[in-house]
Amino acid sequence: MSKTTAEIRRAFLDYFANHGHQIVSSSSLVPADDPTLLFTNAGMNQFKDVFLGTETRRYNKATSSQRCVRAGGKHNDLENVGYTARHHTFFEMLGNFSFGDYFKQQAIQHAWKFLTEVLELPKEKLLVTIFHEDDEAFDIWNKEIGLPADKIIRIATSDNFWSMGDTGPCGPCSEIFYDHGEHIWGGPPGTPEEDGDRFIEIWNLVFMQFNRTADGVMHPLPKPSIDTGMGLERISAIMQNVHSNYEIDIFQKLIAAAAQIVGSTDLEDKSLRVIADHIRSCAFLVCDGVMPSNEGRGYVLRRIIRRAVRHGYQLGAKDIFFYKLIDELCNQMGEAYPELIEQKPVLEKVLKVEEEQFSRTLERGMTILNEALTELSGDVVPGELAFKLYDTYGFPADLTNDVAREKGFSIDQEGFDRAMTQQRERAQQASNFGKDYNDAIFAKSASEFLGYDAENNSAEVVELFDQNGPVNEIKAGDSGIVVLSKTAFYAESGGQVGDTGTLIGESAEFKVVDTVKLNDAVAHKGVAQRNIKIGDVVEAQIESERRAAIKLNHSATHLMHAALKTVLGDHVNQKGSLVDAERLRFDFSHFEAVTQQQLLEIETLVNQQIRLNHSLETKLMGLEEAKNAGAMALFGEKYDDSVRVVTMGDFSMELCGGTHVQQTGDIGLFKIISESGIASGVRRIEAITGQAALQYVQNQAKLISGLSGLLKTDTTSLENKLTSIVDHAKELEKELAKLKQKLASQAGSDLASKATQVNGVKVLSTKVEGVESKTLRTMVDDLKNQLKSAVIVLGLPAADKVSVIVGVTPDLVNKVKAGELVNFVANQVGGKGGGRPDMAQAGGSQPENLDAAIDSVQNWLEERL
Ligand code: ALA
Repeated sequence: MSKTTAEIRRAFLDYFANHGHQIVSSSSLVPADDPTLLFTNAGMNQFKDVFLGTETRRYNKATSSQRCVRAGGKHNDLENVGYTARHHTFFEMLGNFSFGDYFKQQAIQHAWKFLTEVLELPKEKLLVTIFHEDDEAFDIWNKEIGLPADKIIRIATSDNFWSMGDTGPCGPCSEIFYDHGEHIWGGPPGTPEEDGDRFIEIWNLVFMQFNRTADGVMHPLPKPSIDTGMGLERISAIMQNVHSNYEIDIFQKLIAAAAQIVGSTDLEDKSLRVIADHIRSCAFLVCDGVMPSNEGRGYVLRRIIRRAVRHGYQLGAKDIFFYKLIDELCNQMGEAYPELIEQKPVLEKVLKVEEEQFSRTLERGMTILNEALTELSGDVVPGELAFKLYDTYGFPADLTNDVAREKGFSIDQEGFDRAMTQQRERAQQASNFGKDYNDAIFAKSASEFLGYDAENNSAEVVELFDQNGPVNEIKAGDSGIVVLSKTAFYAESGGQVGDTGTLIGESAEFKVVDTVKLNDAVAHKGVAQRNIKIGDVVEAQIESERRAAIKLNHSATHLMHAALKTVLGDHVNQKGSLVDAERLRFDFSHFEAVTQQQLLEIETLVNQQIRLNHSLETKLMGLEEAKNAGAMALFGEKYDDSVRVVTMGDFSMELCGGTHVQQTGDIGLFKIISESGIASGVRRIEAITGQAALQYVQNQAKLISGLSGLLKTDTTSLENKLTSIVDHAKELEKELAKLKQKLASQAGSDLASKATQVNGVKVLSTKVEGVESKTLRTMVDDLKNQLKSAVIVLGLPAADKVSVIVGVTPDLVNKVKAGELVNFVANQVGGKGGGRPDMAQAGGSQPENLDAAIDSVQNWLEERL
């Protein structure tokens, strides 16, 4: 009966599809619009609002295989990975969901049927837990399914009351366990031996009934619902007759690949399990747009990568290795998750760069630790230092421990833990993403948006706010927010800026400087020109010209997005977008600078599509249908079940709520004006369209013709002319340098004649001017040659500094040391210097004292010669 992991996944989705469930694809690991959640950690996350009743879908039964990460937040398994048979940072959760359709009875029936009939698991190996008060569930299991009472265990703890987080949908649950057999230690749930590995939970059926709010109160859900979750890896282990998840097909292949790459032969080594687990979470996190960084999600990713890399080094990896596992991961999971294959080059690059950086910091950390150890007064490494090495340099604490121990030091573990706790608190805060609006400003109404077709409309003022909350009137001169029953104003979203314009009534007038979403309403932000109050009827008029320019930029953004994928590859994904009246700005994943040639290709492609003058089509579709049709959707973006799809010919199809041109030809002209890198793996292109693009090209042309005029040539010969001017300038520079050199040596011979005698030795101590300080050395060498035996001191003053050089011929170095003499002079001009006995240089800051210092050399030498 052995089944591969892929077969089990398929069988599960097919079973529920055959029973009227909509198959829904896995959502991103980065939860959309949910500030309470760091990573997607259960199949039900993407349906949270459906359970709460604030969102409706076309279907009321769904099934999915959801990618999940539990490495931060409420459900965190990171530290367990590698040490147990069944914990992972990344896993797949198979689930079936009912939104007010079936409830307890059918959920239990489905689960039992799937396990015992489709997968043909022996009934006697299964047992269940229920929430202790749930007699209804007991009766279903006992009377309808026929499970003996001793196999239905009542549990009173939160283990059988599932909730997604501290707030949100929750309810009692019933968990199904599999008995792996007597040969493995452990007892049934609820016994003191329950932590053993014999009885493993495989499927959790949650009877969703409540919404818990932050005050701890449980509000009944609109309709009792079902949420279930079965760990794909665990059920695969059972179906493949193995005990540990790490022995299933996917993991065996990943472990074998890891062993080969790092050169390890012991396939049982726990470090190999850690690496095999971590490559899955890291690859999928990057795939879903998370980049290693020092905060929030990126910080968790960074720590997982580093943990994997450290285990690789423990196994003896000599080289950057982690990214090499992506190959095997794609073999194993690419079919179920095609995005993995699409983004393969990006995944490899991100992991490679991160590991390279880490191996450098590892070295740096080692240096810092060694230095710290030599300077320490006691024999305890302060916890703060160990933590800093861990946190800033990614230097694993146990390695610090090892190094310290070898040298007879121990680590202040308490101090380390304290610093770690503080850091955890900071990370926790990082996951509490900010809220957009002040709680007091909560719009109750929903505004109808008319702006796809209209630029003005008449509507009633239904709500007003100042910065503190709702008001009945905004007085002339005051600023605030106006909500209308319906509006042509576009509220900022999807990168497109909000509209501006005016609201004018019989006695009211309001200038709109921005438009944003406020709950389900459209908020017109601005300043009252004349008093405006609730109930006023106003004519809402957007600034048409501005909107027209925005439209061109928005449609051009879609064309460019498609062109980027064509020219650079499918790995390109939108990371950010801003569309306003002046320009479009688009951030996307790509690992190197886009070349000049590629930019030209992109620009050409977009302009071709503009000239093809496609009619722009917009259509409302089901989300799955749209995705299947190939519409580009954004990772991590939350879409309603029914989405608006914007299509331009056969070139671009994107989910988008924005406003667009009617024909691509309206865009006129598309011109890229800059390309740059804004973060590791993220590039930014700025471009302009329409009139702005034309003006840009005209300005460039003007500049070129102006330059031609200046150089007295025509535009076609401009390049040749400029090249010859640049070449000529280079020639002149060379000649000038030669002349300067010549002048300096001439000055040198003039200088030589200034030498005096001190006790029979030639001494030249003088100020020089009009030479560059770097030629001083050559001058001294020349002077030594000319004077044969001499002590030479040259001082070169500049605006606020001086350079001093001293040369002594070899026959005199036993009497006069150049270094001493240069310091004697430099001391007097506010500096110090050094060098060899025959040549020394110094700098100083007091040119005004140079003359006296030069004169003093005579006396100094008299004592020594
Ligand atoms: N949401 C439930 C769980 O994660 C099914 O266990």
